[in-house]
Amino acid sequence: MQGTIHYCLEETIIQKYGKEKWQECLKSCNLPPNYSFITQLKEDIDEKQTINFIFKSAEILGISLQQLFDDFGVYWCTEYAPKLYSGFYIGCNTTKDMVLKLTKIHEMFGKLRETALPPRFEYKELAPNKYEVTYISQRKLFDLYISLVKGLDVYFNNQTQIEKISENKAIMTFSHY
Ligand code: HEM
Repeated sequence: MQGTIHYCLEETIIQKYGKEKWQECLKSCNLPPNYSFITQLKEDIDEKQTINFIFKSAEILGISLQQLFDDFGVYWCTEYAPKLYSGFYIGCNTTKDMVLKLTKIHEMFGKLRETALPPRFEYKELAPNKYEVTYISQRKLFDLYISLVKGLDVYFNNQTQIEKISENKAIMTFSHY
């Protein structure tokens, strides 16, 4: 997984839980206390290490995996991506705009970094404000995807209803469309 995900997780944890907790997370994965993933921002980090790091961090912070995904989703969508990847937000005014653009965004990113294996999405329009979205990825991070949609809602001040109907499908009813 691209190091930018790790670096965003680092910023998320430091901002919400403090530097000391972050250092405990590093320690639990045998990394030195002054380590920062900023050094690996553009690198591909071993997938198992990534998943292990996320699980261990939730354990250390004493929160559920879903809570950590939610924290990450809000931070990514409201602070990190607008700062680092603002170009991808151009022309997007609602959660719906962004959700429907995600395959393209990830494809563009995939072209910039050959090692990236980003997720893809399929959309079935059920009504102008209602879509069935399918998450396509070798990873099983659909719950992270849902947390990121919630993060988009915070950014755009929208209220999307998300009904998870299987391990890779959800029905989304958008408040703004
Ligand atoms: C706004 C700009 C965004 C950029 C530049 C971006 C870029 C990336 C990158 C580089 C990865 C790692 C891919 C890899 O290492 O193979 C990733 C993963 C991921 N992204 Fe995004 N992303 C953005 C927004 C979003 C949003 C808004 C969502 C969901 C609503 C999302 C859903 C995901 C998920 C679920 C993954 C985990 C990997 C997987 O499931 O396979 N992304 N993204």
